[in-house]
Amino acid sequence: MQICVIGCGYVGLVTAVCFAEMGNSVTCVDSNGERIAALEKGISPIFEPGIEALLQSNIAGRRLTFSSSLAAAAPDAEIVFIAVGTPSASDGAADVSQILAVAQALSEHLSKPAIVVCKSTAPVGTACRVQAILDQTSAGLQHRVVSNPEFLKEGDALNDFMRPDRIIIGTDDRHSQRVMHQLYEPFVRNHDRIMFMSRRAAEMTKYAANAFLATKISFMNEMAAFCDEFAVDVEQVRKGIGADQRIGHHFIYAGCGYGGSCFPKDIRAMLHMAETQGTRMPILEAVEARNQLQKEWLFRCLQRSLGQDLRGVTVAIWGLAFKPGTDDIRDAPSRVLIESLLATGARIQAFDPIAADNIARCYARAVAEGQLALGDAHYAVLNNADALVLVTEWKQFRQPDFALMRTLMRRPLLLDGRNQYDPQQVERAGFAYHGVGRPASRPQLSALRRAG
Ligand code: UDX
Repeated sequence: MQICVIGCGYVGLVTAVCFAEMGNSVTCVDSNGERIAALEKGISPIFEPGIEALLQSNIAGRRLTFSSSLAAAAPDAEIVFIAVGTPSASDGAADVSQILAVAQALSEHLSKPAIVVCKSTAPVGTACRVQAILDQTSAGLQHRVVSNPEFLKEGDALNDFMRPDRIIIGTDDRHSQRVMHQLYEPFVRNHDRIMFMSRRAAEMTKYAANAFLATKISFMNEMAAFCDEFAVDVEQVRKGIGADQRIGHHFIYAGCGYGGSCFPKDIRAMLHMAETQGTRMPILEAVEARNQLQKEWLFRCLQRSLGQDLRGVTVAIWGLAFKPGTDDIRDAPSRVLIESLLATGARIQAFDPIAADNIARCYARAVAEGQLALGDAHYAVLNNADALVLVTEWKQFRQPDFALMRTLMRRPLLLDGRNQYDPQQVERAGFAYHGVGRPASRPQLSALRRAG
């Protein structure tokens, strides 16, 4: 099929590469000329394992081309995917102006009836607004608008696209259903995983899925705080409840809060959608509030252990990306910790295998002033540190040499924001340990405070 994908960001690029890999002819459009020039050479603007190999092989196979001109790329497309950004506006609303602008441009440039697919996450009713723009302005051509939300996890997006749990197609139009089924059938051969529903239900399904996952995490983070009150290890409770198939083991890991480009933005957008309807979503309000508290937990824990005044204290951080496998630092818990530490006058020595450059750009002033140092090895940032905080659970941090770490650090305090370590093993190595919902061995911590 002739496909045009508009927007070469995370979602657009993964979509384009995977459809090309299945033998379709795909043109990817982006208004950013530099990005297009790099893509034409097979260089990806996003970090996603495996994407450059697929980019290069599909460019070489002439199934994938790039263009910065929608006017040149769109006219012959049978299917056009809109995968532009829907960032949070200052009031939390999802800003759909880029989608609407693309719809307007498409109405001028499509030369034959096309199926226009809204891939970006957007409030309920957006696909209908796109249809209205196309109906009003496309002279005599009948375009059909479909909602087809993505469910891609960063770091595993190619796998998610190639082997999806489900494909949601929002349209009541028979012709669109047939074409979309044909397009996606190779991804779900032998499995009945394509679901048709209304456009509005498809848009809602995307929000509901993310809201539910975020709720699981916030619930578990709240349980961790509760466990702390009663000196119970939340990790034991996690295993205990996860064994119940109705609950399941996924997404019930307590930690230092969820981040990334989807959960925080989508929850805020849903709360805004509720407000515009004059209603409330108390559960989601609580999910968001708990996540904020959770992101502040690491800093509060440092203060409890080392004292309120952290001036002159050196804190080492392992992991800056919002999760392992990505260089994405959007809404990452590390940023809340870094900002609190900078405000209080502490010094930071941080390491991340791939997200350090993004953090350096974000806090360029602190880097220039020497308050934030980004190391190129995880042990190196421990030198003379008063505490180590594990924020992102990269695999390379999983089994560190605690004895070596003990010799490098000035004070032996380990805050485990992802419950990666065995508290007893860490304490045997001479550290005071604190995990999320894993009560510290209190005598050790108070000894530490006196030592400081
Ligand atoms: C998410 C959804 O999973 C995906 O379906 C959607 O399309 C986009 O948003 P992503 O943002 O890439 O994907 O990350 P995900 O792996 O879902 O993790 C989100 C955040 O939750 C991370 O910060 C992670 O550390 C945190 N998390 C996840 C927990 O704190 N505990 C858990 O048990 C699981």
